[in-house]
Amino acid sequence: MYPSHLWRKGVLSTCRFLHSSQKCGMKTMQAWQAFEYGNPEKLQLNTVAEIPIVKNGIDVLIKVHAASVNPLDVCMLEGYGSTAFNFVRQINNCSLTPQGFPLQLGRDFSGTVVHVGKCVRSVKAGDEVWGALSPWQQGSHAEYVLAPVCYISKKPSSVNHAEASSFPYAALTAWSAIKIFGGLCEKSTYGKRVLVIGSTGGVGMFSIQLLKLWGADVTAVCATDAVELVQSLGADMVLDYQSPEFKQNLKQLNGFDAILDNVGGEYPDLTIDLLKKWKNSKYITVVSPLLKNADDRGLVLGTFMSGLQASFDTAMSFKDGRSFRWAYFVPNGCALKSIAKLVDNKQVNPVIDKVYKFEEVPEAFEKVAKGHARGKTIIDYSLCDEESSKENKEQQQNV
Ligand SMILES: NC(=O)c1ccc[n+]([C@@H]2O[C@H](COP(=O)([O-])OP(=O)(O)OC[C@H]3O[C@@H](n4cnc5c(N)ncnc54)[C@H](OP(=O)(O)O)[C@@H]3O)[C@@H](O)[C@H]2O)c1
Repeated sequence: MYPSHLWRKGVLSTCRFLHSSQKCGMKTMQAWQAFEYGNPEKLQLNTVAEIPIVKNGIDVLIKVHAASVNPLDVCMLEGYGSTAFNFVRQINNCSLTPQGFPLQLGRDFSGTVVHVGKCVRSVKAGDEVWGALSPWQQGSHAEYVLAPVCYISKKPSSVNHAEASSFPYAALTAWSAIKIFGGLCEKSTYGKRVLVIGSTGGVGMFSIQLLKLWGADVTAVCATDAVELVQSLGADMVLDYQSPEFKQNLKQLNGFDAILDNVGGEYPDLTIDLLKKWKNSKYITVVSPLLKNADDRGLVLGTFMSGLQASFDTAMSFKDGRSFRWAYFVPNGCALKSIAKLVDNKQVNPVIDKVYKFEEVPEAFEKVAKGHARGKTIIDYSLCDEESSKENKEQQQNV
């Protein structure tokens, strides 16, 4: 390399360093935030949001490269879960006042570690990681996010950040529902008959792939246009819920060991009798009234009502030797490590519905709010970076 090139390279990297240190000095970033509840129009791009600081020894600061939008983000923007989540935030922050705003959404991410707390050993600055956060934490629809090290793992190396970000929240929900709440695992699932209701969203698509991998016989329920897609994921039988014969076809099936319900509504009443009697069969639903009850009736009464409802559902299913369980997402870095291996071995694959740029986050929310997911909705921050780096290059050439 000629000295003049070296000099130019040196000047450019110094400029870049000054630019980034200036940025770091200001400790600001871009983040999509809401200052009141409502529709996606309430989301604002805050260009001077504070970069979170690693204060806790177990925390990791991550530069986000991609994140997904989940139905929970859309619901939380409308105020869903605010009673419970604001209470947890208030306790965590030792505050006397409710801690709702600014609300920063985005439950999962794929990115690069920037800084780690002093107790963190498993990852270091520069590592590529993925993770999913608790709903009361500030989310990933921002340039940087803070996560406890036990919520993240190294990302699968065989997929890019956008593909990786399609997994953490939905896959961990499926993982908790199937494994933690459903008690099914690699060794116990072989030959079991499982009905997956709502098989075309993030949770359903990952569930089918995992259950097939573990040797289950999977029947999936989806809309007419998605039958082929669901078959391509490996489902042994697919039922089209838009067909006029759907309920009749459903009634003819029975002998399921487990039902995973990602839709709710009338499905528990329609399908609980399809479970085997007195064989430890389980109805596992990820759609529970817990947070809505707390929003409608307050934390204490709402939780009490949910407890009553859960006891009633459990008692009704027990009479035939079945069990009824509400399942929840659980942040879980160890599970993500296992899932990363499955992704790298091509045993589970990303299913992406649509990809948006960082500046298009409200449009991505609109898309998720409309429903009818066919896989995941992703925000790929590099699409934005590519354009700005093009601009940067042009500016450098002009200098
Ligand atoms: N408990 C928890 O911790 C937890 C965590 C994550 C998610 N969730 C909840 O779990 C549910 C699924 O999550 P997700 O991320 O997979 O949602 P999603 O991506 O929006 O997928 C939902 C899927 O269900 C399909 N669907 C709608 N009505 C249906 C019906 N009657 N029969 C069969 N399929 C139907 C939808 O497509 P079509 O409308 O075109 O059929 C869509 O593909 C959501 O309600 C979410 O809020 C709970």
